[in-house]
Amino acid sequence: MAVDEEATMQPPLTALQVMQDAPVIPVIVLHDVAHAVPLARALVAGGIRMLEVTLRTPQALACMEAIARDVPGAIIGAGTVRSAADAQACAMAGARFVVSPGYTRSVGKACHDLGLALLPGVATGSEIMMAQEDGFTELKFFPAMQAGGIAMLKAWQGPFGDVKFCPTGGVTPQNAKEFLALSNVQCVGGSWLVPADAMAQGDWYRITALAREAVALRG
Ligand code: 3PG
Repeated sequence: MAVDEEATMQPPLTALQVMQDAPVIPVIVLHDVAHAVPLARALVAGGIRMLEVTLRTPQALACMEAIARDVPGAIIGAGTVRSAADAQACAMAGARFVVSPGYTRSVGKACHDLGLALLPGVATGSEIMMAQEDGFTELKFFPAMQAGGIAMLKAWQGPFGDVKFCPTGGVTPQNAKEFLALSNVQCVGGSWLVPADAMAQGDWYRITALAREAVALRG
């Protein structure tokens, strides 16, 4: 059975389910398809199932397909989705949720039509309002540190008290707890769970350990 057929048999996820599964969504950049399955297994072993595989390398879609085929405990997300065509390709590769660095109506509509949960990226009040207008109330705050960090999220608690954010960009194991303590933060995103050197060395135990530490952030 093709990966896309299997994916369509799964019940659709909501963005809130994606955000509630663990305190951290790992932002993954894969250059080698051979790394995809052991990496996904290492993260799942550490308690992280929602995996954002970014569309930043030519291998990204093949990596999603490999994980969908061989790591049943993982739930694949596609990151860096910037067009409806990107969303379609990721759905075919087995992705069940999408994370985008910004928000456009065409990406929102494509994800809705494909049954993919979407965490659209926002950095301003107008972008939040546009996403809300289209029915999206769980949003990625990107790039979080560069665009105002904790202070910005606190400022949004008043006018946008009904929105939950996943701050991403500059979030670290050191500052993640401070983000997670905010009432409008459901989870954070970060690349620190998948260090390039650990992947190059095949140090999957280190990645499992980082995933365990990330799960423990929400104590
Ligand atoms: C990204 O898009 O690369 C994410 O924002 C990850 O940022 P980080 O490397 O600062 O975690």
